[in-house]
Amino acid sequence: MKRRIFSGAQPTGSLHIGNYLGALRNWVDLQSEYESFYCIVNLHAITLPQDPATLRQKTLDLARIYLAAGIDPEVSTIFIQSDVSEHAELAWVLSSIARMGELERMTQFKDKGKGNRERAGVGLFTYPILMAADILLYQTHLVPVGKDQKQHLELSRDLAERFNRDYGTAFVVPDPFIPPVGANILSLQDPAKKMSKSDENPNASIFLLDEPDTIAKKIKRAVTDSGTTIVFDESRPAIHNLLTIYHLMTGKSANEIEVHFQGKGYGHLKTELAEAVVEFMKPFQERVKDFDDAHLNEILKKGAAKARIIARATLDDVYTKMGVVGAT
Ligand code: TYM
Repeated sequence: MKRRIFSGAQPTGSLHIGNYLGALRNWVDLQSEYESFYCIVNLHAITLPQDPATLRQKTLDLARIYLAAGIDPEVSTIFIQSDVSEHAELAWVLSSIARMGELERMTQFKDKGKGNRERAGVGLFTYPILMAADILLYQTHLVPVGKDQKQHLELSRDLAERFNRDYGTAFVVPDPFIPPVGANILSLQDPAKKMSKSDENPNASIFLLDEPDTIAKKIKRAVTDSGTTIVFDESRPAIHNLLTIYHLMTGKSANEIEVHFQGKGYGHLKTELAEAVVEFMKPFQERVKDFDDAHLNEILKKGAAKARIIARATLDDVYTKMGVVGAT
């Protein structure tokens, strides 16, 4: 039996190269080695207000992006979270064993809730529990994600271990897969922040569907630093970030890149980086047009049917172990 992968992305905003380099490319690389489940987590999306028509459209668009990125529906299971209601059910169960204190420590709630506890949604607070449910339902061994999800993964592990200890083993304890390079692509406008779908400044992120001239403009406007040399130096995060993107887009080694840019200026780096990103994105942007809605719906329906069987078996086991079923 192959070991299992589960991962997902929210159908909000537009996917950017951080999402691709931190997560999606690893989903593609790992999909044949593992039995893989890639989810469109629309129930997570509604923890912040969404326009219903836009959310519907973005949900289908995200499926298109998964496929264009190279996820093969013949190999991996692709589905929409709300199509498998066991996610919400297990989240309820896990919310009964999770502790307020451990959720209070989640940094993403503090960021997204903007520090305003009184106004922040309860769903935003319990968001990591739904994420744990997503993962644990599938007896997942490996969860390929970017660095920003590390803390959520730790909570998922803690909840699995707690349940297994208190009620008997129902869950595999999942390991995160966080790539050594590309797990934290930074904003082009403020290298103190990660590149984020929800950034209000569109110049901060390169979106997967950006036109070539938009990509070039954004890279040209990217902030740099006061140094002049083009080297991988983590104490200069803006240039380090641009070089990391260049490295991942071209496949050239850090050493090759430093030699290549020796004696050249930031302008030169930006021009070549823009060319590399545009070139890298071209086949992906071509493929996105290939999938019509009917085809996507068919893949998602099939995916949900397959996912539901595994999810139901886990939930039945959980309910039995807790005494929730079996009274009659
Ligand atoms: P989401 O939709 O914010 O992001 C999708 C994936 O992209 C990664 N990522 C990044 N990687 C590198 N650099 C960045 N700047 C960057 N920004 C985002 C994220 O780490 C993620 O892997 N909570 C999750 C979705 C989710 C999930 C799950 C993931 C729900 N349930 C279960 C794994 C397993 C999220 O909001 O991802």
